[in-house]
Amino acid sequence: MTSEWWRTAAIYQIYPRSFADANGDGMGDLAGITSRLGDLQELGIDAIWLSPFFTSPQRDAGYDVADYCDVDPRFGTLADFDAMLAEAHARGIRVIIDLVPNHSSDRHEWFQAALAAAPGSAERARYLFRDGLGPDGDVPPNNWESVFGGPAWTRVTEADGTPGQWYLHLFDSSQPDFDWTNEEVREEFRRILRFWLDRGVDGFRVDVAHGLVKAEGLPDWTPPADAGSMGGAGGTGASGVTLEPEISDEPGDHAPYWGQDGVHEIYRDWRAVLDEYPGERILAAEAWVDPLPRVAKWVRPDEMHQAFNFAYLETPWDAAALRTVIDASLEAFGDVGAPSTWVLSNHDVVRHATRLSVTEANPQGHGLGPESKGLPSFEAGLRRARAATALMLALPGSAYVYQGEELGLPEVIHLPDDARQDPTWFRTGGERYGRDGCRVPLPWEADAPNYGFGPAGDPWLPQPDEWRELARDRQRGVPGSTLSMYRLALGLRREHALGAGTLEWLPGFDDAVVAFRNGSVVVVANTGASPVELPAGDVLLASGDLEGRTLPTDTTVWLRA
Ligand code: BGC
Repeated sequence: MTSEWWRTAAIYQIYPRSFADANGDGMGDLAGITSRLGDLQELGIDAIWLSPFFTSPQRDAGYDVADYCDVDPRFGTLADFDAMLAEAHARGIRVIIDLVPNHSSDRHEWFQAALAAAPGSAERARYLFRDGLGPDGDVPPNNWESVFGGPAWTRVTEADGTPGQWYLHLFDSSQPDFDWTNEEVREEFRRILRFWLDRGVDGFRVDVAHGLVKAEGLPDWTPPADAGSMGGAGGTGASGVTLEPEISDEPGDHAPYWGQDGVHEIYRDWRAVLDEYPGERILAAEAWVDPLPRVAKWVRPDEMHQAFNFAYLETPWDAAALRTVIDASLEAFGDVGAPSTWVLSNHDVVRHATRLSVTEANPQGHGLGPESKGLPSFEAGLRRARAATALMLALPGSAYVYQGEELGLPEVIHLPDDARQDPTWFRTGGERYGRDGCRVPLPWEADAPNYGFGPAGDPWLPQPDEWRELARDRQRGVPGSTLSMYRLALGLRREHALGAGTLEWLPGFDDAVVAFRNGSVVVVANTGASPVELPAGDVLLASGDLEGRTLPTDTTVWLRA
């Protein structure tokens, strides 16, 4: 196995609920993943990251974990997990799983024990229980708001039936936050890490890796009006409006629950656990903080290996903004000896086949629906998305691909209200659509029931009729299809070792063009309205049709240098 594989890896995110359903209950499962690993091997990725499949009441699609060391029956069994892992490894695909350490489910046995125990007990000390304010204790302990909307505190009823303490939940009320100052919590997560490392996983994507430690005293805080839902990222949250990445790093810009210094000690401790194991197991941080040098703290040499580059994800399709964020990324991560990562879509954001062309502000997490304004046509959105992907996959570092983007799937806008499941939708009374539109089950075969997602039964979110034409079997082997473009790009990326390359900007192009050389490949992306003359060199890949030697708008080309 290659040394430091994670520095250059193309990592494919599987959202298990929506990937492939083997047992026909309408929800994807581990056996479904196993059955489709051949397709991923053919695509040419190096690793998969699985969103949670652990025991969970699914109030937040599995990010509410009731048992960290077991598989939810909806997804299968531990034996199904072992079979999936073995099959992936046999195909040369590494497997990263999701670890959710900021909060558990309220169905976790520790939280149930905390509810049954008295204020001040050891059981309550694993979470953040506090007395309320005011003479009757009926005012929440501080003014923090949940990422999903509404207050971040819920009051419990004590065992004697009286109104009692409050507990903190930065997300849904079914997701109580752990108290990471408690050594018992720390020890439990070391145990969980070892449980999965012993089974052979190649690493962990760490959920809300910026949230575990809260400022002492839990002081009040009011987020700036323009913060995305994750609160840490300044700017517009993928609105397509802000052109410069956020650069301010003033103390006080940051919530007392995001990016506190104490989190780093936890990851140093975990790194030591991972380093006990052979085979380069990795930690990848989901840390929505800015600016980039602050994110880079998560990947200092004795901490995690990778951090998601949300500054890149949030950058609009604008050449100047792209050059700025690429430079800032390579510099910030390079300064700490880490690879940059690149990502355009995941299960929390509007799919980039739609997002990059939306003309109205749309903060992260708010989602899109029938009432949203400024939506692009399918064709315009896809064209730009393909150009953006072709640019991203040519950058040095590690790239993340979210399931379905290789098919060109757009965000699903017209989900019926009663199908929506994101807690954001419920906690805001329908004011924010939330993230269901990027989570719709995949189309595999145009002419099969549920487009081949599963053998029978309605998928947990309905698939739009237009997806028939986007099914994988309609695109496989078809020159010019989005699937073929991804496969070609991933193959060339490997062949030319672009992940391990060095980026050199090429001068002499229009301002609306991103042009660089990465080793033996020259990349030219046209974000402007006018066509651009191409430099010399054989075309290796084009994200759209070329007009002779000119590069049309919203098109990226790779040339042999
Ligand atoms: C995950 C979300 C989840 C939240 C709470 C994240 O950032 O990616 O899907 O809702 O954490 O666990």
